[in-house]
Amino acid sequence: MSSGHDRPVLPETVLVAGGAPLGGELRVPGDKSISHRALIVGALGEGTSLVRGLSDGDDVRRTLDAVAALGAEVHDDGEVVTVTGGRSFLHAPLGPVDCGNSGTSMRLLAGLAAGFAGVTVLVGDASLSARPMDRVAAPLRAMGAKVTGNGLRCLPPLTVNGASLEGITWAPEVASAQVKSAVLLAGLFAAGETSVREQLRTRPHTEELLALADADIEVADEGAGRTVRVRSSPLRPIHVVVPGDPSQAAFWIVAACVVPKSALRVRGVYAGETRTGFLSVLRRMGARVRLDEGAPGPAGEGAGDGAGAGAGTGVGDGDGAGAGARARAGAGAGAGAGAGARRGTACSSVGAVADVTAQWGPLSATVIDASEIPSLDEVPALAVAAACAVGTTRFVGMGELRVKESDRLRAVARLVDAAGARARIEGDDLLVEGVGGAWGAGGLAGAGDAWGAGDGGGWKGLRHFRFDSEGDHRMAMAAAVAALAAGPGESRIDGFGGVATSYPAFLAHLRHVGGHARVQLIAIDGPAGSGKSTVSRAVAERLGLERLDTGAMYRAVAWAALDRGIDPQDAPSVAELAHEALIDPGPPDVVIDGAVVTGAIRTAEVNRAVSAVAANPSVRAALVERQRAWAAAHGGGVVEGRDIGTVVFPDADLKVFLTAAADERARRRRDEPSDGVARRDELDSTRAASPLVQAEDARLIDTTCRSVEEVVDEILSWLR
Ligand code: DC
Repeated sequence: MSSGHDRPVLPETVLVAGGAPLGGELRVPGDKSISHRALIVGALGEGTSLVRGLSDGDDVRRTLDAVAALGAEVHDDGEVVTVTGGRSFLHAPLGPVDCGNSGTSMRLLAGLAAGFAGVTVLVGDASLSARPMDRVAAPLRAMGAKVTGNGLRCLPPLTVNGASLEGITWAPEVASAQVKSAVLLAGLFAAGETSVREQLRTRPHTEELLALADADIEVADEGAGRTVRVRSSPLRPIHVVVPGDPSQAAFWIVAACVVPKSALRVRGVYAGETRTGFLSVLRRMGARVRLDEGAPGPAGEGAGDGAGAGAGTGVGDGDGAGAGARARAGAGAGAGAGAGARRGTACSSVGAVADVTAQWGPLSATVIDASEIPSLDEVPALAVAAACAVGTTRFVGMGELRVKESDRLRAVARLVDAAGARARIEGDDLLVEGVGGAWGAGGLAGAGDAWGAGDGGGWKGLRHFRFDSEGDHRMAMAAAVAALAAGPGESRIDGFGGVATSYPAFLAHLRHVGGHARVQLIAIDGPAGSGKSTVSRAVAERLGLERLDTGAMYRAVAWAALDRGIDPQDAPSVAELAHEALIDPGPPDVVIDGAVVTGAIRTAEVNRAVSAVAANPSVRAALVERQRAWAAAHGGGVVEGRDIGTVVFPDADLKVFLTAAADERARRRRDEPSDGVARRDELDSTRAASPLVQAEDARLIDTTCRSVEEVVDEILSWLR
């Protein structure tokens, strides 16, 4: 099975307001690191593995598609993913494997592919193509695989030519869970023993999962480090529940700490020692954070009211992770235990699981060493906490941040500065001078009403800002947290679409806990054949926004009137119909009272009837109300029609009025007689109720002789 890379679409630009306390509880998506590894270890198991609570981000989808391309059979029913594999099933893929933005996919798959005969080509998007793969290529080459990439640092595309591998002993210079995992996966195919010695313990999920799969694996902790040894042996299928991702939970935990008067509970979070260093840091800063380990969590339960990511923490009486790997089967056993991943199938949780509760309070600066937060994933969130703290926090040894999804070291500094605190980079260190939040210069007295006097006058915390995450998901989410903590006013975050790589439900969760976020509202008006539909569809796609075709709503009412034998000129009867009908404007389909009318509303009959329907003030009132409700539900979007900029959304972020020469418009509407188009335009422009006119503040584009791309580019340039 393949997900077809139908990457969830998130808006490119999001506007997040400060001024509202956060409350309630939620579940974050399944841990990304564990999800990738569960799919790969599942593909290696001889039989069918079950994974529940898999991360729904694009990165993990890439690994899912990749293991399918490598020969495993994958099925995702939305709750449980089954992976049927085994070593004899796996083979080099037919074409290149697209890892998208996911460095984890590329590094882990390189290790796996090193074990097969044949050539595997791993490609990535522009950002991944700039990330060095040399640290993973070196050990795989030492084992006997041929690994090539671009330049000295082995940039993707990465070509892996599998071979008979020899076990090695590898001690990476920079501790890296991804390099360790790649070597261990290759080690499963190698002759003799393969061992990886890391000076600092990194996340142990590959060991945990291999132990669950009964691999021949040994783990020995040595001081702050660890040695892991594997030998080739058949793996058995695994049944696992993926706990919540602590690096995603970090955004909500920090948000609760820095947004005045907030308290949040994040349920079912992975709580192994290598992943919860950020909680110790926050505690040291004085944050009120509590961890309830082994907290029960019904499997598959949502975020309280259905906003949850669906990852459950329930576990059955599955097998423990032996051999020293730290998985604690049984931790978090709860009401969901019986549900298992499949009826009657026990699932093991990978590692310790906890509920984390955090509350707003004063924070003070600290010194944070890179070793406390291996992988550094939580640095963007912690930088927001530091920006709100009293004093200057020093993040020591952050060089690795330069080669994340963006130059995250610079990006974090940019965000901190934009939000009104001060950042400085000294070598590999990052210094953040906090503003002290509502607890700052104004002191606790000023925090009586934490948000100041309503006009922001008394506010001493972060200021609202504009920030471009440049597609880096963690920077976009950290910016959202900073925006929630900023005083009254709206912050604009560009490059938000990247959040789809790891947390597609982030905005829904932000609203669920009481935060205010919206997207831009773009009104596109114009006469028939001016290019509204094509242009608004393309604008919506480029911006990751939903689109509403209001003309389809008027057409649906006209269709329903004709269908029921109501004369379109019979104003009261048509109005009654419009007020009572249930209309779903799509996409994909336009539906009125259960009838799918996507095609039927484009007929000559409806063309003739629709102007009278649209001139009916009562019909307009009914439909305008629904159009506003649609925008409220979507937080904004691209809305096309005749009166969108003038009547429906007079405060739209951008108003565009499209036009084109009459003969060109008639040509575009070939299916409608040209005198019909002209007649409809005349009726639409001269009617009393909301006639078609250009709003005073609308930008005019004549689309005659211009390509769709040119028009769309011009519209997008106005949004900048
Ligand atoms: O965009 P369209 O051709 O599908 O619209 C069908 C009719 O609906 C059009 O003749 C005018 C009317 N309409 C309107 O009056 N107000 C809108 N916001 C959208 C369409």
